[in-house]
Amino acid sequence: MQKKPPADNASLMARRRAAIPRGVGQSHEVFIARGENAEIWDVEGKRYIDFAGGIAVLNTGHRHPTIVEAVKTQLDHYTHTCFQVVAYEPYVELAERINALAPGNFAKKTFFLSTGSEAVENAVKIARAHTGRSAVIAFSSGYHGRTLLTLGLTGKVAPYKTGFGPFPSEIFHARFPDALHGVSVDDSLASIEAVFKNDVEASRVAAIIVEPVQGEGGFNVAPPEFLQRLRALCDQHGILLIADEIQTGAGRTGTWFAIEHSGVAPDLITMAKSMAGGFPLSAVVGRAEVMDAPGPGGLGGTYAGNPLACAAALAVLDVFESDRLLERSRQLGLRLTASLKALASRNPCIVDVRGLGAMVAMELGKGGDPHQPDADLTRRLCAEATRRGLILLACGTYGNVVRILVPLTASDLIVDEGMAIINAALSAIEAD
Ligand SMILES: Cc1ncc(COP(=O)(O)O)c(C=O)c1O
Repeated sequence: MQKKPPADNASLMARRRAAIPRGVGQSHEVFIARGENAEIWDVEGKRYIDFAGGIAVLNTGHRHPTIVEAVKTQLDHYTHTCFQVVAYEPYVELAERINALAPGNFAKKTFFLSTGSEAVENAVKIARAHTGRSAVIAFSSGYHGRTLLTLGLTGKVAPYKTGFGPFPSEIFHARFPDALHGVSVDDSLASIEAVFKNDVEASRVAAIIVEPVQGEGGFNVAPPEFLQRLRALCDQHGILLIADEIQTGAGRTGTWFAIEHSGVAPDLITMAKSMAGGFPLSAVVGRAEVMDAPGPGGLGGTYAGNPLACAAALAVLDVFESDRLLERSRQLGLRLTASLKALASRNPCIVDVRGLGAMVAMELGKGGDPHQPDADLTRRLCAEATRRGLILLACGTYGNVVRILVPLTASDLIVDEGMAIINAALSAIEAD
């Protein structure tokens, strides 16, 4: 057999371009060989600190030993039956543990899927089945996935929705509060009232879906008052409140669910990403009587709640307890925020530093103006940081927000090293 030549990033990129459609984007031209906690090494042996965590999937880091061990053990017993055909205990145990974690003093039920988009799709199905209503209200700059229903809910056109319409009907968008850009909580709630006046009567709205902190939209934090008033509005009209916690959940913000900061109990919560430490798993948790609205066979999926992913998710919950990761998330948030604020005091291009717990970001504006988004600088900063050994991601409606999603298990030393790279990369670009 002929020996394969050693791979390098450039040749793998060339093969990727030839074999894979360009629609599957790639932030950085790097191919991983190995990952360990908050560090990765590429196929050329270069080391990177990982501030992206596979887009909010690795709150417990790459290959946490407890999670690896749990999956290996599961692998030795069975890997797939389809839960609807032959059931298995890890699925049930995980549902019980998530029910106990979800906010709200009422009975809950949980079921599992594979991707975040699927969880959102199913939350909408359940809300429709329970209320007998069809309409759904989502928010500007919100992101809910790439399937056709979730793209309809997503409040950002390029690149997600471009060319893919028409989207399902009966979806309406209200304005997400954004004090930096002049949208107050009152403005936002008034925009929902406007939907009721202009588009659909409140009595036909099944659900309002909201991210407690918008992820792809730019780490915009929903003020607690907004979420509380949204809850009251939903109660007034018999509308279900869905919290999309796919990016904010699994301890990212210092509580297991970000909505806990507001004291609000949603009717349904969607989860995915970090809940299974890198294995494909998503969930919908909600009020038991709402979750039981669809009839038998109405929910599920061939791979939904895969045994390996359930074993990983149970281990993630154990690691959160053993490594005290909620506390760590809060500490890390303070450390990252202080560091970004110090950077902002020296760099007027940073027009805002914001976040909740360890979900932290900075927004870049031309000439220090928050109304002139600087997507070009953001792109250059992420590229320069990668060149210097830090995987960094952008987000935001205008692509001008740098977000930090470093594993909560990262040491202060690694976090500070990553922050120093951001600092140096920004200085290098500005000196250019
Ligand atoms: C808030 C939110 N909802 C839904 C999704 C879609 O999840 P997935 O990419 O697993 O389908 C994402 C993914 O980034 C997300 O951040």
